[in-house]
Amino acid sequence: MSEFSTRTILRPRTAASGVRVTVVAGPSTGAVAAGRKITLGRSRVADLAIADFTVSEFHLELAPHEGGIDVRDLESWNGTYFEGGRLGRAVVPPGAILALGQSAIRVDLANEPEPARPVRDSFRTLLGRSTAMRELFGLLERLAPTELTVFIEGPTGSGKELVARVLHDESPRAGRPFTVLDCAALPASLAESVLFGHAAGAFTGAVAARAGVFEAADGGTVFLDEVGDLPLDLQPKLLRVLEQRQIVRLGENRPRPVSVRVVSATWRDLRRMVNQGQFRDDLYFRLAQTRLVLPSLAERREDIEILTTEFLRRMPRNAACARAISREALAELATRTYPGNVRELKNTIERAAYMCDGPVIRPQDLAFERLLERGREPASHEEEADDGSVPEFKGAKRTAVDDFEQAYLARLMTKTNGNIAMAAGLAGIERHYLRSLLKKHGLHSRE
Ligand SMILES: Nc1ncnc2c1ncn2[C@@H]1O[C@H](COP(=O)(O)OP(=O)(O)OP(=O)(O)O)[C@@H](O)[C@H]1O
Ligand SMILES: [Mg+2]
Repeated sequence: MSEFSTRTILRPRTAASGVRVTVVAGPSTGAVAAGRKITLGRSRVADLAIADFTVSEFHLELAPHEGGIDVRDLESWNGTYFEGGRLGRAVVPPGAILALGQSAIRVDLANEPEPARPVRDSFRTLLGRSTAMRELFGLLERLAPTELTVFIEGPTGSGKELVARVLHDESPRAGRPFTVLDCAALPASLAESVLFGHAAGAFTGAVAARAGVFEAADGGTVFLDEVGDLPLDLQPKLLRVLEQRQIVRLGENRPRPVSVRVVSATWRDLRRMVNQGQFRDDLYFRLAQTRLVLPSLAERREDIEILTTEFLRRMPRNAACARAISREALAELATRTYPGNVRELKNTIERAAYMCDGPVIRPQDLAFERLLERGREPASHEEEADDGSVPEFKGAKRTAVDDFEQAYLARLMTKTNGNIAMAAGLAGIERHYLRSLLKKHGLHSRE
């Protein structure tokens, strides 16, 4: 399955998409019009207005039809004639000459260019002007109204959940629930009941009957987040729901029909998990009927500017913070790596907006952010921590304290503009201790 495999549903237009009309006899000889659907008549507002008083205001309508042109006489006074016969509604071959009043027209098929769409840099709450994002907006526009099951892949913070929401909001199911199920946080003992619900007394603690996620989302969309974390033993059960569109509550045997659209996402490589036997291939193929791959932010730096300005615009109205960013600061943002993708950019902007002293974020206001960047271990470190292992206490504590110190100092020194005396006073610590801390973290004061 290729990326953007949804292209299969983007059928190119094969049939002619429009008609062309040429007036070949009468007072308006030579007039031409083309379009998807054309009305012709004496009215000024007809698509092709002809100056023939024997022609009705709205005389006829033309549209392309398989292999020919669909002609509809709009109950004109003098009628429309083809080869001597009066037409009510008929399909005529391309090149046909039609007579109306004292005029004659020739009709042909034409390939109408798609109306030029304005170049969009957003789709609902999703922003972006990179080619990848624009392509995604086009796909989402076509995918959203369908019932296709969509699987969204992409690194952390790249917008998977936002895409899932947009798919729902732009679908006919928009008025119904959008339910998120975080598969990584499913407690093993309750997983089945969370998904499918249970009858009263189905197990110890099941006092009252409860609907599961699928029932609760009936008519809407279920978003299975982190679906790669779905326990193996639940996978066949989920598959059954997707295939049969019905669920059975725990402790019942009556199946209940559910109408849900399923959208799922994970940052894991599900295909690799399939190869390794950690994810069922039949379930994968069900979920990934359509697969969308979101690029990392580093792969679409063109989006940084529009995202940044939007995040600034969304800052709370009455907060004392910056609402603009300088060219230089933007340029610096464009050079960063963003392992946390859009979420990281958003956090960066929000922090800088609050930390900076003026109304405009300047490069020096990003100093704090530079520290966080430096303090970060390579991305692989984050993934290691994700395997559920618990690091050794002492090391973990030291890292946490270091991170805290760095963040604190950066903030402190930004606020006091590097003035040690003022900073020490503000922090309530001795100057020499502050100096040693700064040294430890490679920071320099103005002294
Ligand atoms: N294209 C975008 N336009 C505007 N905001 C975005 C865009 N992409 C992501 N965001 C914002 O970035 C943050 C992270 O997005 P989201 O939660 O959808 O990411 P995710 O891929 O689900 O991350 P994770 O894998 O960590 O769950 C959210 O605040 C979201 O609103
Ligand atoms: Mg998410």
